[in-house]
Amino acid sequence: MLMEYTIERLKSGIPGFDDIIQGGFPSGTTVLVTGPTGSGKTTFGVQFVYKGVELYNEPGVIVTLEERAQDLRREMRAFGWDFEKYEKEGKLAIIDGVSAVVGLPSEEQYVLEGNLRAEDFLRYIYRVVKAIDAKRLVIDSIPSIAFRLGVENEIREVLLQLHTILLEMGVTSILTTEAPDPANGKISRYGIEEYIARGVVLLDFVEKEVELKRYLLVRKMRETKHSMKKYPFEITESGIVVYPSGEVY
Ligand SMILES: Nc1ncnc2c1ncn2[C@@H]1O[C@H](COP(=O)(O)OP(=O)(O)O)[C@@H](O)[C@H]1O
Ligand SMILES: [Mg+2]
Repeated sequence: MLMEYTIERLKSGIPGFDDIIQGGFPSGTTVLVTGPTGSGKTTFGVQFVYKGVELYNEPGVIVTLEERAQDLRREMRAFGWDFEKYEKEGKLAIIDGVSAVVGLPSEEQYVLEGNLRAEDFLRYIYRVVKAIDAKRLVIDSIPSIAFRLGVENEIREVLLQLHTILLEMGVTSILTTEAPDPANGKISRYGIEEYIARGVVLLDFVEKEVELKRYLLVRKMRETKHSMKKYPFEITESGIVVYPSGEVY
């Protein structure tokens, strides 16, 4: 009898995407989602966590470092996603990493304080993940970790520590970053992100006639057969949808 080697996979919650990565992300991995501004990184990461709760009953944590939790909730409501419902049920936690820095009062349950040290930042995430027994995590974004902690020089060490605790927690994580020049292979900002990430997904635009079209490319996904093809995707009224049989010219 032929033994088939199978690994546990986590469905992304992004329609069409799992078809191009053999059914989902390898469980417990860290995936880097990279792309220019407006390419859909925040939506991709948040959809992964939100749909994990909604469709698969897997608790999740969202660490938002670029916009306040309340702004994120409001924006995502446009996709019909009701965060509060799952937050009340203790299945979803949003860690607000913005309010304190900009000096705004916050009534959030999970808030990162102002002058945060890297250890405290990592410990806080760890605690919240454990508190709700999260299976999924998104940190939006890596460059804002550096900015937020004032550790531009030590960002590599912080990312290595982050890598260690992500493995320790066993969550499947998405980290977002910006790609300065994806077309020329520069897909991360600090050069170490690809090392941490066992998967890299690039979101980008291509000019088609007078319009920009969105596409997605799986640059790397360990333990997964995937093509290096560019797939069209859209941000629809219900979130990101990938077209596995579509063409990008
Ligand atoms: N409700 C919506 N319906 C359709 N498209 C949307 C909606 N909300 C946002 N978008 C699109 O998503 C883009 C922002 O995506 P986002 O995930 O914030 O990108 P990034 O994090 O890469 O900057 C917007 O510029 C807009 O084109
Ligand atoms: Mg964003």
